[in-house]
Amino acid sequence: MTAALLEARGLHRFYRRGGEEVAALRDVNLSVQPGELVAVVGPSGSGKSTLMNLLAGLEDPDGGSVTLAGHAVSHQPANSQARLRGRLIGVLTQTSGLVEHLDVLGNLRLAGSFRPTRPAAADLVGLLDQVGLRQRSSARPSTLSGGETARANLAVALVGNPSLLLADEPTAEVSRVEETGLLDLLRRMRPPEGATVLVTHSPAVARAADRVVHLLDGRVQ
Ligand SMILES: Nc1ncnc2c1ncn2[C@@H]1O[C@H](COP(=O)(O)OP(=O)(O)O)[C@@H](O)[C@H]1O
Ligand SMILES: [Mg+2]
Repeated sequence: MTAALLEARGLHRFYRRGGEEVAALRDVNLSVQPGELVAVVGPSGSGKSTLMNLLAGLEDPDGGSVTLAGHAVSHQPANSQARLRGRLIGVLTQTSGLVEHLDVLGNLRLAGSFRPTRPAAADLVGLLDQVGLRQRSSARPSTLSGGETARANLAVALVGNPSLLLADEPTAEVSRVEETGLLDLLRRMRPPEGATVLVTHSPAVARAADRVVHLLDGRVQ
């Protein structure tokens, strides 16, 4: 086996709610190889989004560590974590991450400006082509349908070919038909040498993955 690209070791995360402590994650280990697509499934409240936030360096674990391509993701200054996300990570969520005052192509250009090498304009148009939004490149985000928004978000997350693609229930807001299409796109367009971690409730998503990790009450089953 080759070295893991993404390595999460012994992750613990606790939240305080009122007087009680909620264990959102308990001793979670996850290694993802280059090119691998891992689906994380589990009921609502099982810790899926918490795990994604830790993998993205948006939150720090209370125990354990995350490394990506040899770089420490966890327990770094917030600006270093933001820089690492800009360089290496693409994040896709169910809510739109698109900036409203820019058109679709402008959103891709903005995402490219955070990457170490600014992608060529032709590459951005090529990405829009792949997600079927070339005709919508001058559209404002608010004029996109749910499915178009999801596909635009996917294109934005993939700008610059990230080492890690994180998708937290990206199809929660789209129809069944759009869901199948988006998952198909995600599977085909995921970074070929990168790690992809995809959270979902959908059995269809699990079938599209190389491996499925089941979370229950913050533990890997
Ligand atoms: N910011 C927070 N403050 C308090 N509790 C939280 C917070 N985020 C998540 N939790 C709790 O942690 C548990 C896991 O949540 P989450 O990771 O969002 O699960 P999932 O994404 O699987 O639905 C739940 O019990 C949730 O209520
Ligand atoms: Mg969630």
